[in-house]
Amino acid sequence: MRKNIVAGNWKMNNDLAQTQELIADLKKQMSGEPAATIMVAPTYTNLYPAFEALKDTPVIVAAQNMHQEDNGAFTGEISAAMLKSVGVETVILGHSERRAQFNETNELLAKKVDVALENDMTVIFCFGEELEDRKADKHFDLVERQLKESLYHLPKESWKSIILAYEPVWAIGTGETASPEQAQEMHAFIRKSVADKFGSDVADGVSILYGGSCKPGNAKEIFANEDVDGGLIGGASLKAEDFLAIVNSF
Ligand code: PGA
Repeated sequence: MRKNIVAGNWKMNNDLAQTQELIADLKKQMSGEPAATIMVAPTYTNLYPAFEALKDTPVIVAAQNMHQEDNGAFTGEISAAMLKSVGVETVILGHSERRAQFNETNELLAKKVDVALENDMTVIFCFGEELEDRKADKHFDLVERQLKESLYHLPKESWKSIILAYEPVWAIGTGETASPEQAQEMHAFIRKSVADKFGSDVADGVSILYGGSCKPGNAKEIFANEDVDGGLIGGASLKAEDFLAIVNSF
C-alpha cells in the first residue's frame, strides 16, 4: 500500500550553521517511530552535511532540483550522479518556482524525470494550477496535461519511484490553503487519471502529497482525506516543532 510522506522543502533558506541547527532540533524532538516517512530538502551546499547528520535516522535527504545532463559545460548545474555521490537519492522536480522563474517546461521535466529514474533515484514530481486556471475552471485539464507531458510516457514499473506533489500555485507561500474538499477532489481526480492510464495497481500505490501553506493547524484535516497521502511543506518546515507537528498529524 502507498506510504504517507511528509517532505520539507527548505528552498533557498538556511546557511550551513542554520541547517545544522535545524537538523539538531529535528533529531532532538523526534521520538519513536515517526507517523509518516520524513524527507527534507536543503540547498545544494548543505546536502552532504545534512546526509551525514541524518544517516543514522529515518529521515531521507532530498535535493530541490537536478540538471538533465550527466556532465559537461553547464555552469552552475548539478547532475544526478553528483547528488548520488553525496548520498542523495531523492529529488524534487517541477516545483512551481522552478517552472515560473527558471522556465522549466513539461517537456524539460520529462527529460529530468527520465534521467533521475535512469540513475535509480526517487522523484517528487510537483505540479498544480495557477489561480487564473482555477477561476476559468481549467484546473483539472491543466493538471492532467502536466502529468501527461512529463510522466505518462514512463513504463509502468517506473511508478514505484514516483511521488506526486499537487501544489496549487495560489496556495504556495500565500497563507491561503486549498480546502480539504478541494484537495481531496483534485487528488481523487489525479489518482483516477493515473488509474486510467496505468491501472489501479499503479494508482493505488502512488503517494500523492498536498503542498501549499500546509501548517500544524490545518495538516490534520487535509491529511484525513482518502487520497491525500501527506504534504510537501515549505515555510512550516523551517521550524522543527512545526514540521514534526505536521508529520504527527497522521
Ligand atoms: P509553503 O510552500 O508551504 O510555504 O506554501 C510549499 C512548497 O512550495 O512546496
